[in-house]
Amino acid sequence: MLDGKRTLFSGMQATGDLTLGNYLGALKNWVKLENEYETFYCVVDLHSITVRQEPAILRKKARTLLTLYIAAGLDPDKNCIYYQSHVSAHAELSWILNCFTYMGELNRMTQFKDKSAKHSDNINSGLYTYPVLMASDILLFQSDVVPVGSDQKQHLEITRDIAERFNNIYGDVFTVPEPYIGEAGARIMSLQEPNKKMSKSDENPNASIYIMDDKDTIIRKFKRAVTDSDNEIRYSEDKPGIKNLIDIYSVTTGKAVGDIEKEFLNSGYGDFKIAVGEAVADMLTPVHSRMSELTKDKAYIDNVIKTNAEKANYYATKTLRKVQRKVGFPDRIR
Ligand code: TYM
Repeated sequence: MLDGKRTLFSGMQATGDLTLGNYLGALKNWVKLENEYETFYCVVDLHSITVRQEPAILRKKARTLLTLYIAAGLDPDKNCIYYQSHVSAHAELSWILNCFTYMGELNRMTQFKDKSAKHSDNINSGLYTYPVLMASDILLFQSDVVPVGSDQKQHLEITRDIAERFNNIYGDVFTVPEPYIGEAGARIMSLQEPNKKMSKSDENPNASIYIMDDKDTIIRKFKRAVTDSDNEIRYSEDKPGIKNLIDIYSVTTGKAVGDIEKEFLNSGYGDFKIAVGEAVADMLTPVHSRMSELTKDKAYIDNVIKTNAEKANYYATKTLRKVQRKVGFPDRIR
């Protein structure tokens, strides 16, 4: 809660190209929530360097991601859209909260286990304390709600634990946030290995639909999607490929699963895959055209970056000062 208004925070990493999973699991929900909350949408570039990055590429991807937030429908006059690295309070609060987080808690984080297995040559301590930085992002803005895909649930739980622990010692300093995980779309799976989540870092480009893929590419990837051989469009755990396609079609079109099964009762997988591909491409067309307009308008995007970072800094510093005071740091002399 900030200035009497319920607050929402979320963020995405500026690494790789955004996928349909990011869009349906997070971004699409964000746009629906902008009128209900005071919202903060961050491009989390501090988190990105837990894995080695090419500097010029990271900078470019961060700008593309920030622009994409706007292209997807977030109005930067209503939503605070900014780079994490432009608000130093994230890193400062993170240090403090590191001192209120146990190694045992961090050892349980599945993302750390997965990422350190994948990047065994670079298991740095940033990767390990990643969830504390994420908790700081959320708690800095006294966030009531955090819209994310289901893969971030564990990070939200540790955020709540850290906030409660801090509040128990120092009084009500932080709002304890709730995750907002949409029902459908919370976990979009790989098109090639439907038991695995669709991920920006997947090396097989056919496994993911990228938000900026053109219509032909989208349809081609859906045609190649791995399914089963019984040719029956039915929503079932033992048919993960088709279940994923039904989920995608359902969140994209707003149609209920039962209605989709009826609609495709007499169709084969081929027709269904094309229908899903067309629906996804149609949903993304306006995002593409807005993106190409926005990338041409450098001055506008620069202004969003500047003014929104100022706003984020204002609120973040307010919480940071309060926390610094609580833990016993000396007051600043004005
Ligand atoms: P990131 O960048 O991996 O993903 C951004 C958002 O997309 C969701 N998502 C998915 N949803 C459904 N299906 C999928 N296949 C899928 N893949 C990704 C994620 O759940 C997420 O909501 N640690 C975060 C970034 C972060 C953050 C935060 C998020 C840093 N600080 C504070 C919320 C609040 C991450 O790496 O997300």
